[in-house]
Amino acid sequence: MKKFIASVVFALAASVSAMNTASAAGGHVELQDAQADIHNTSSLQRGAKYYVNYCMGCHSLNYSRYSRIATDLELTQDQVVKNLIFTRNADGEPENPGALMKNAMSQKHSAEWFGAPPPDLSLVGRSRGPDWIYSYMKAFYLDPTRPLGVNNTVFPNVGMPHVLWELQGLQEKHCTKDGDGEHAVEHCELKLVKPGSMSAIEYDQVVRDLTNFLTYVGEPAKLHRHGYGIFVLLFLALFAVLAYFLKKEYWRDVH
Ligand code: HEC
Repeated sequence: MKKFIASVVFALAASVSAMNTASAAGGHVELQDAQADIHNTSSLQRGAKYYVNYCMGCHSLNYSRYSRIATDLELTQDQVVKNLIFTRNADGEPENPGALMKNAMSQKHSAEWFGAPPPDLSLVGRSRGPDWIYSYMKAFYLDPTRPLGVNNTVFPNVGMPHVLWELQGLQEKHCTKDGDGEHAVEHCELKLVKPGSMSAIEYDQVVRDLTNFLTYVGEPAKLHRHGYGIFVLLFLALFAVLAYFLKKEYWRDVH
């Protein structure tokens, strides 16, 4: 029993420290709640559409196949071929639905263009977490000192351009200082200076859809895993009843 308690305490301590590491990755910037929900299938479908249109040119999803996404997102093969597959195979033909979601971005040259190569985003939903992705996509602001004219409060000096600026519009960072000297605290906020084609609420939804999609891609099995859990618990409950009667049967002659 002692051993069991010790292992439970150890597991709890390990998960708390893992959570701390995850929040440390976000730096000191406060992240916004993405309200991620990977069971919202229409949001995942929209997220997939935005992803292939706005992100896939730079970021591959090397561990995902179009066909797996089609099954999980309840899309027909035909819908996938028409709406999601814009990449081509070595023969110049559109990729078939069974292919991995690779792109033609050259790692070597893209590092020269952007300062850093655009990473594969298959696992970003797990390494950064949904709140980080959501906040990051909303945190681009104009900064003339940067090569691409934009910076990001969540990922300072990022090499990525603000690819969704036409939807969100352009933001500026305004900072005010409270107090003076060593104790001064700086408060910064992002203000929209040039509106995009969408309202703030509509843009938030686009970013939430993308976040949901990337969270799903990071661990597709999660969609079904929770469902299995319920069956396993039901089975254990049923098995406990059976075991109880079996025990009674075995011990009947002894007592
Ligand atoms: C023009 C190329 C380009 C496009 C298009 C693009 N990105 Fe990026 N992205 C980059 C580059 C380059 C980086 C690496 C930045 C760095 O390390 O400084 C990056 C980094 C990221 C990161 C951080 C990854 C990490 O963990 O460090 C995320 C998340 C991301 N992009 C999401 C997106 C999403 C979502 C889209 C589509 C809406 C998108 N990107 C479109 C170039 C691009």
